[in-house]
Amino acid sequence: HEEKTKVKNIQVVEFGKYEIDTWYFSPYPEEYANVHKLYICEFCLKYMKKKKSIERHKIKCELRHPPGDEIYHTTSRGDLSSQAEDPSTSNQTRAAGGRGKPQNLSMFEVDGRKSKMYCQNLCLLAKLFLDHKTLYYDVEAFLFYILTEYDEFGHHLVGYFSKEKCSAEDYNLACILTLPPFQRRGYGRFLISFAYELSKKENKVGTPERPLSDLGQVSFRSYWTRVLLEILRDHRGNLSIKDLSAMTAIRNDDIITTLQSLNLIKYWKGQHIISVSAKIVDEHLKSVGAQPHWSIDLTKLHWTPHA
Ligand code: COA
Ligand code: NA
Repeated sequence: HEEKTKVKNIQVVEFGKYEIDTWYFSPYPEEYANVHKLYICEFCLKYMKKKKSIERHKIKCELRHPPGDEIYHTTSRGDLSSQAEDPSTSNQTRAAGGRGKPQNLSMFEVDGRKSKMYCQNLCLLAKLFLDHKTLYYDVEAFLFYILTEYDEFGHHLVGYFSKEKCSAEDYNLACILTLPPFQRRGYGRFLISFAYELSKKENKVGTPERPLSDLGQVSFRSYWTRVLLEILRDHRGNLSIKDLSAMTAIRNDDIITTLQSLNLIKYWKGQHIISVSAKIVDEHLKSVGAQPHWSIDLTKLHWTPHA
């Protein structure tokens, strides 16, 4: 794509309490594209060139959450064991790549048609960390699922994925981002699981739009591997690709390539045959790391498919 060859323009963004080094070019309007640092409002995602402008903006911006429906919300308030947790210890756990369960997570569904400016600004921000996706301005045909961490100041953007309202190709996810300060803590996996949970509710199978970035590939492969291995561990009868797909909403070809990479599938007389032993599944599970992942609490997901 054209943008890939363009030289990175903005070097740093100030976003809420974070200063984030950018990774790639993003097509912000020309008058913003030549600044070293861009100031972005963490709530409405408006971008500004000057510190003074963002300070003035913060006083008048009233948005405290993404402009859409809150379809998922978890809170740990009232959970004494986690409140009693020493905050310095949990920070250390985080810094060491720990996967303690985050608190006060929400997901908002934002319609690209109803909140065009917000979604365009989100795509411009995301492009700073994506080398090839090229959607920025035509956001109307997409829904945006925004993950936030909530505190007394508002809902802070952690990451998101976008999804075409109607996909002829089974796509259940177009673009996915975890903002760099939040990466490698399991949020990407959370977003991917969320996309598949929505597909299950739609009674559809899903797959991410291609091409995937390297990090996207690693994250999806890791998700598919764990989900499939856990099912194979728990259901030791005969399962077909079709069964696995019905249980997980993962598309057939993604199941096949994942099982192939694990050497758990054979092609015999024109058919894929899953061939596993309990021992091999356990070995694979051990090698992908058996650390408990926090995951979606389905009782907190309030969403029905769009007509
Ligand atoms: N190097 C190696 N592995 C990595 C990695 C990295 N930099 N980042 C993530 N992973 C692996 C993790 O180890 C994890 O696997 P595991 O569960 O087996 O340990 C898996 O990928 C998911 O990690 P997680 O912490 O849930 O993901 P994340 O919050 O860091 O988000 C992305 C993953 C892809 C959303 C994030 O890297 C991102 O926003 N990248 C920039 C945008 C992009 O490329 N999006 C995909 C476009 S198709
Ligand atoms: Na948190």
